[in-house]
Amino acid sequence: MNFAIVGCGFVADLYMNALVSHPELKLSGVWDRDPQRLAAFTAHHNVSAYASYQALLADTNVQLVANLTNPREHFAVSEAALLSGKHVYSEKPLATELDRAQQLVELAERKGLLITSAPCSVLSETAQTIWKLLDDGQIGTPRLVYAELDDGNVAAMDHASWISPSGAPWPARDEFEVGCTLEHAGYHLTWLTAFFGPVQRMTSFARVVQPDKGLPDLQPAADYATACLAFHNGVTARLTCSIYGSHDHRLRIFGDEGTIGIDRIWDYGAPVHLSKRHKWTHRVEKYPLFGTLTGLGPKKVPLVRKPAVSGIGLWGKNAMDFCRGIADLAHAIYTGTQPTMTARWALHITEVVLAMQSPDIYGDVRDIQHQFDPLKPEQWAR
Ligand SMILES: NC(=O)c1ccc[n+]([C@@H]2O[C@H](COP(=O)([O-])OP(=O)(O)OC[C@H]3O[C@@H](n4cnc5c(N)ncnc54)[C@H](O)[C@@H]3O)[C@@H](O)[C@H]2O)c1
Repeated sequence: MNFAIVGCGFVADLYMNALVSHPELKLSGVWDRDPQRLAAFTAHHNVSAYASYQALLADTNVQLVANLTNPREHFAVSEAALLSGKHVYSEKPLATELDRAQQLVELAERKGLLITSAPCSVLSETAQTIWKLLDDGQIGTPRLVYAELDDGNVAAMDHASWISPSGAPWPARDEFEVGCTLEHAGYHLTWLTAFFGPVQRMTSFARVVQPDKGLPDLQPAADYATACLAFHNGVTARLTCSIYGSHDHRLRIFGDEGTIGIDRIWDYGAPVHLSKRHKWTHRVEKYPLFGTLTGLGPKKVPLVRKPAVSGIGLWGKNAMDFCRGIADLAHAIYTGTQPTMTARWALHITEVVLAMQSPDIYGDVRDIQHQFDPLKPEQWAR
């Protein structure tokens, strides 16, 4: 399937790294409104540049546009693509305002086009292994989830030195103004809504805990947020995002018969640990060494498949396959089906993420308006 990329910044290099694993995807060309960035990217990756976004949209070979622009540009870029008859894979979120995300989904539906959104890590071997464990009843009825996405004090890190292989600096100002929850909550939320279906109701607290991030005239978004989520199926989850609390990317799912845990939500091949409930559970949880010495501690579960990618996320060896979602969408277009993450599911996640990041706009307590049909086990890509 022929596709084109709009936005040749920091993350576009990660997509290019991953593209080699997807021979079914043919990159027709790329576009960036920054001419220097466009030139550096096309030279580095030896790919063609379009003369303008209009030229890209006029290319009838292109069926799918990957929108890798900054979040506040997502709406305009995706809308133009849909109006030109292209299917859209959007980096997260679909849009930075809920009514605009809704407009995109309705526009796609009216035109018979598909739109979906990153992240696509729900297609990872780790996520699918957790789904299978839940589906197989390994922890009995799941009831409570603790999900963390703390990235450490990013403002105090040497982020000016984070430069992608084609020379794009990590967009610190944009990241700090858009907010870490809008950037990151979707990773946990796509998994949780895959496993448990839609969120019914949520509460959120969000705040700027560190106003001075060392950049002049910054308008920082909340850099800390915690949401409590009540799923229709009865599961309760607490999700925290920050770029201040020390690094913690754990996901823990507690059920009547055991616990599933991972340490690295951003790693497609992160080991999955399963603890089955037994009479020593409380001792193992209190004294992990006891669990290790007795062999009663959490066990590493074999993943459903050998992970295609895994690791610490060094350049050239992504821990994530950024193109898996584009490939999934391309397959849906080709077969006349729906992508794993439907537009309505992406809209649901966008609503939850926006409400978590901005309770001042969407309410401290919110009944989620945009629902979706939960995946059935047979629709799951495992
Ligand atoms: N930085 C990361 O590590 C990372 C990881 C995963 C996902 N993402 C997501 O990827 C997206 C892009 O992030 P990034 O880090 O690459 O940002 P970036 O600022 O490095 O790159 C964005 C690029 O898009 C271009 N652009 C913006 N608006 C445009 C428009 N209207 N038309 C054409 N080009 C336009 C900019 O000139 C820039 O080169 C965001 O949605 C972000 O949430 C980023």
